[in-house]
Amino acid sequence: MGESWVNYAERVGVDLHLELSAPGGRRAALTGALREAVRDGRLAPGTRLPPYRSLAADLGVARNTVADAYAELVAEGWLTARQGSGTRVADRVEPSRAATRAPRKMPPRARGPRHDLRQGSPDASSFPRAAWLASYRRALQGAPSEVFGPGDPAGRRELREALAEYLARARGVRADPGRIVICSGFAHALRLLFEPGHAKATARGGPGSAVLRGPLAVEAYGLGFHRRLLTAAGVRTVPLSLDEDGARVDLLGRERGVLLTPAHQFPTGGPLHATRRAAVVDWARARDAVVLEDDYDGEFRYDRKPVGAVQGLDPERVVHIGSVSKSLSPALRLGWMVLPERYVEGVLAVKGEREAWASVLDQLSLADFIASGAYDRHVRRMRQQYRRRRDRLVEALAEHAPHVEVTGVAAGLHAVLRLPPGTERSTLKAAAWQGVALDGLAEFRHPEERTPEDADPAVRDGLVVGYATPPEHAYGAALDALCAVLPPP
Ligand SMILES: Cc1ncc(COP(=O)(O)O)c(C=O)c1O
Repeated sequence: MGESWVNYAERVGVDLHLELSAPGGRRAALTGALREAVRDGRLAPGTRLPPYRSLAADLGVARNTVADAYAELVAEGWLTARQGSGTRVADRVEPSRAATRAPRKMPPRARGPRHDLRQGSPDASSFPRAAWLASYRRALQGAPSEVFGPGDPAGRRELREALAEYLARARGVRADPGRIVICSGFAHALRLLFEPGHAKATARGGPGSAVLRGPLAVEAYGLGFHRRLLTAAGVRTVPLSLDEDGARVDLLGRERGVLLTPAHQFPTGGPLHATRRAAVVDWARARDAVVLEDDYDGEFRYDRKPVGAVQGLDPERVVHIGSVSKSLSPALRLGWMVLPERYVEGVLAVKGEREAWASVLDQLSLADFIASGAYDRHVRRMRQQYRRRRDRLVEALAEHAPHVEVTGVAAGLHAVLRLPPGTERSTLKAAAWQGVALDGLAEFRHPEERTPEDADPAVRDGLVVGYATPPEHAYGAALDALCAVLPPP
């Protein structure tokens, strides 16, 4: 006796796979298989079992074998039998712990850390639901029918106009709606710029050329995810060392471009010094190269004067890229590129052939959200909230770990704690042991960058602490836990 698919979906809407391989005769094998199916949740409470005859035919066993097996399981309380409604799985059968824990074949969900101080996300609980809903409603009500037809790869005009006004006013970007291309965020922008397109493919069907090509200088500390994305697109990334004034743009050489986070170096936290901002634009002009400006959290500045966009220095040499991932939510997948004129056509050609477009209704909602002033209000409110969070972190460290220097706190949603040389790994281990999740600086280092021992003090051992996401009631405990795992003086 082997196994059989009992397919009675037409009658009761479920398929059941029974394995009758247990020793001890057919009846025992069938009883055991049914018990197992109930226990592990494949047969849910209330499920109707097939009639004796059809199950017997399907399994190649005698009708009485099925009848006896059902009767035994009814007697044990696994099944119930009622005149007119057939035999069903009993309601009160407790599925086994395995069945309640996770569906079959799914790995068990890892338990999260007790205190999550990883950088990366804004406070999800502060998403401005009411204001967004109001914008969404207005956008939907006011949208002409053509909105629901095929879209424009550049993105909705309404959003590009709202962004042009906002970016000029708030970030000093020289923006024209015709130079703005809406995308799904920074990562998508990188793909559009560096991945070879197909529309411009050669006659032999090979990949077409990309809008931009490497080698590309990147800050020696940055998001590995972005570096890997570039590598996958065939772009060689070259690390550019950092010091207290930001990226060493004086070290730029024959690269075709440079990717920078000038407003708030990610992750070390400082702004690019004014002379370097000018110098990098001069370099790009001299070498016919391009500067990619990642303005990921430019809205969140606290103590220092606003740092405007480098793009304002030369819109023909700088691609300015932003998104709502830090200011509103990374779940919206909405971002933008402000492009030099000569790249607009190429980016639109690549974008036109890819399916990753931002939803038109979300684009129109964001346009309304910005134009109505709700975006400015939200950013101001979040700036105050994050500043309070930042202040509490700085105060806790001053009180409990005054020997640990905290840097990169004038802007953004994370801070960098400087550690004594050689202590980063052990501190991270101690933190993990205590249920505190955070990242070390080493995690962000370019694989070809010098080791911290040779590097500038600005990038030696350190912790990157995100302070935006722990819930308010748990933030104090998270700070206590953090201070407790820091190395002693
Ligand atoms: C350095 C950096 N750049 C860009 C982004 C934004 O990425 P995206 O727009 O793809 O969500 C982030 C994260 O929010 C980031 O940390």
